[in-house]
Amino acid sequence: MNFAGRVNVLSKSETQEINDRAAELKRKGRDLVDLGAGDPKFREPKQVRSAGKEAIEDGYTCYTEVGGNPNLRGAITERYKKVFEVDTSNLAVMTTVGAKSALFEIAQLLYEEGDEVILPRPYWVSYSAQVELAGGTPVFVMGKRDDHYLPTAADIEPKITPATRGILINSPANPGGGVYDENQTRDIVDLARKHDLFLVGDECYDGFVYERDRFWTLASSDYERVLIVGSTSKNFAMTGWRLGYIMGRTGYIDELEKIQSHLTSSPPAISQRAGEAAFRNELTLSRRLRERFKLKRDYLAKELSELPGVNCPSPPGSFYLFPDVRGTLTELGYEKNEDGKLAEVLLEDAGVVTVPGSAFGGPGHIRVAYLPDEDRLREAVGRIEGTIRSLV
Ligand SMILES: Cc1ncc(COP(=O)(O)O)c(C=O)c1O
Repeated sequence: MNFAGRVNVLSKSETQEINDRAAELKRKGRDLVDLGAGDPKFREPKQVRSAGKEAIEDGYTCYTEVGGNPNLRGAITERYKKVFEVDTSNLAVMTTVGAKSALFEIAQLLYEEGDEVILPRPYWVSYSAQVELAGGTPVFVMGKRDDHYLPTAADIEPKITPATRGILINSPANPGGGVYDENQTRDIVDLARKHDLFLVGDECYDGFVYERDRFWTLASSDYERVLIVGSTSKNFAMTGWRLGYIMGRTGYIDELEKIQSHLTSSPPAISQRAGEAAFRNELTLSRRLRERFKLKRDYLAKELSELPGVNCPSPPGSFYLFPDVRGTLTELGYEKNEDGKLAEVLLEDAGVVTVPGSAFGGPGHIRVAYLPDEDRLREAVGRIEGTIRSLV
C-alpha cells in the first residue's frame, strides 16, 4: 500500500514494546509495580465527576463553540489571574482535545516546509513528530545535567539559523522534571524577541512544582509571539476527559480556531463542563497532595542514588525522575546507551515498569514516575535493588 509520504516520519512509539510486554505479564497474573505510565494514579476531583454527570443529565452533550464554551474559557483565564497573578487582558483562550491536539494545531499554524523548530532534549515524544508532520525540521538542544537538562537561552542561541521559526520549551518538564525560574524564562523570551521567533510553552505540569515560587508562566510575558499550552490531564487527573487549552493573543487564537473547526470542532461538551468545575474550584493540587509528592520524590531519588552506578537528582517539578544509569549499564556489561536492556531487566526480573530514556532522546537514563503509593514505591525500591545487586 502506498500511504502518504508524511507518515514515513512517524515511528512506532519506542515505549510500546515495553508496555505490550508489561500488559502481557499482567495478563499472566504477574504483580508489577508500574513506574512507567504518566497517568496520575489519583482520581479526578469529585466536583469534576459531578459536573460531568450533570452535563449528561442536562443534555449538554451537543456541539459547542469551536474554542470551547465561554464559561470554561473564563474559568481558565481566572485561574491565571488567581494562581499566577497574570494580567490576562491581552490574552485569549481556545480549549482543545488535550494538550496533544493543542500542540498539533500550533505546529499546523506556525510551521511549514523548510522551517527549523528548536525543541528540548530529552523531550516528550510527540513534539518532533508534530513538527515533522507540519513539514518542519526539529533541531534538538540539551541543557546541563545540573539544570535537569533544560536548555537555557545560552544553549539555544547557537542553534538559531535563518531557517529557525520557533522555539518550544517545556516547564515543568517531562521527562527531566526541570523547571525554569523567572530569569531563565525571561532570557528565552528575550532571545525569541531578538530573533523574531515564535515561542511555545508546554506548561501541562504547572500544578506539580515543589518550589512554588520557582515557576514563572510564559503567560506573564508581554511578548506577543508566545503561545502557552496547558491541560487538565495532570493537574486534575483528567487524562481520559481529553481537555487542554492554548492561551495567546487574540489574532493567534482566531487562526487556531479555523484549524480546530476542521479538526475536532471542539473538545467534548461534557468534558468542558467538567473542566470548568476543575478550574472554578481552584482544584490545582492541594498543598497536602503536593507535599506528599515531594516526599515520594525525595525518597525515591535518594534510594535510587544509592544503587550501583545510578545518579538520580531530585528535580523541582512534574512527577518523574530521570536517573542517569550509564554507570549501572557499564557494571552490567551493557553499552552506555542500552537503557532499553535495563528497563527490560527491571521488568522481567524485578517486576517494575520503567521507560527507557532513549524513548525521549535521553539514552543512558530511565524515566521513573513516582505516582504509586508510598508502600508500592518501597516495594519497587526493594525489587530494583535486589535485581541490580544480584547482577553486578
Ligand atoms: C509534556 C507533555 N505535554 C503534553 C502532554 C499531553 O497531554 P494531554 O493528555 O493533555 O494531551 C503530555 C502527556 O503526557 C506531556 O507529558
